[in-house]
Amino acid sequence: MAQRAAIVTGASSGIGLAIARLLGEEGYALTVAARRPEKLAQAAEGLRGEGFEVLDVPAMLAEEDGVKAVVAAHRERYGRLDVLVNNAGVGIGAPVGEIQTKRLDMQLDVNLRSIVLFYRECADLLRAAAAEHRSAQVVNTASISGKRGQAWLSVYSATKAGVVGWTEAMNKELAPEGIKSCALCPAFVDTPMTDFAKAGGVAAEDMITPQDIAESVRMLLKVSPACLIPEIIFERPGDAL
Ligand SMILES: NC(=O)c1ccc[n+]([C@@H]2O[C@H](COP(=O)([O-])OP(=O)(O)OC[C@H]3O[C@@H](n4cnc5c(N)ncnc54)[C@H](OP(=O)(O)O)[C@@H]3O)[C@@H](O)[C@H]2O)c1
Repeated sequence: MAQRAAIVTGASSGIGLAIARLLGEEGYALTVAARRPEKLAQAAEGLRGEGFEVLDVPAMLAEEDGVKAVVAAHRERYGRLDVLVNNAGVGIGAPVGEIQTKRLDMQLDVNLRSIVLFYRECADLLRAAAAEHRSAQVVNTASISGKRGQAWLSVYSATKAGVVGWTEAMNKELAPEGIKSCALCPAFVDTPMTDFAKAGGVAAEDMITPQDIAESVRMLLKVSPACLIPEIIFERPGDAL
């Protein structure tokens, strides 16, 4: 059995893929999950090519059954969970008078509801890891817009503020047992999600890199079990998000 294992959602590209690679480098066996099977399989194959142990589980994480399927597959393969990275997310901008219910629901379900479900489904595995080595880590990818609400990205901002609040609550509830949670709150990161900003004139090289975000996860893994880092904010000078 793997000595350490992690789940990373939204690991088929961008921030999630960078975090999955980092966890592989740190010796974690991985379950990676995302929506589109082919894109995920390609990312997983790349990670395997780098020498990492990877199980890829395509799943619609807006749906409860999708979340359950990822956790069940991970449990069966590895039997343990030391790090959970709730990173899958979707952002769809609209002026308030034009918000479509379907898009509202999708953002709520993927960005916030799925995180609640992942904690519920993983609580026993995380407790076991914390009992074994005094620390289990959950990383929740929020956003700078979860700290400072953004016009046009209002629904996205609300879901990410929800992630920040949920993370705080989980630290009150679970950190005493050694399950630590951290909300990552980045401004623009150079991933497919910011293609709209690049088209609008924000240069990719002026953005935060996915590797920058992954390095913060490395730090979370290295600090002593007693050290709780509840939130990391990544600003950009002249912040546009
Ligand atoms: N890029 C930024 O500037 C920025 C800033 C702050 C926060 N974030 C957050 O960072 C996280 C990662 O985003 P990213 O920038 O790395 O974008 P990305 O490259 O587009 O990655 C998004 C990931 O989430 C997956 N995903 C989306 N909807 C899903 C669903 N319904 N079910 C399962 N998986 C789903 C995607 O899979 P598919 O491709 O198959 O859909 C993909 O793997 C998100 O939570 C995002 O909100 C990004």
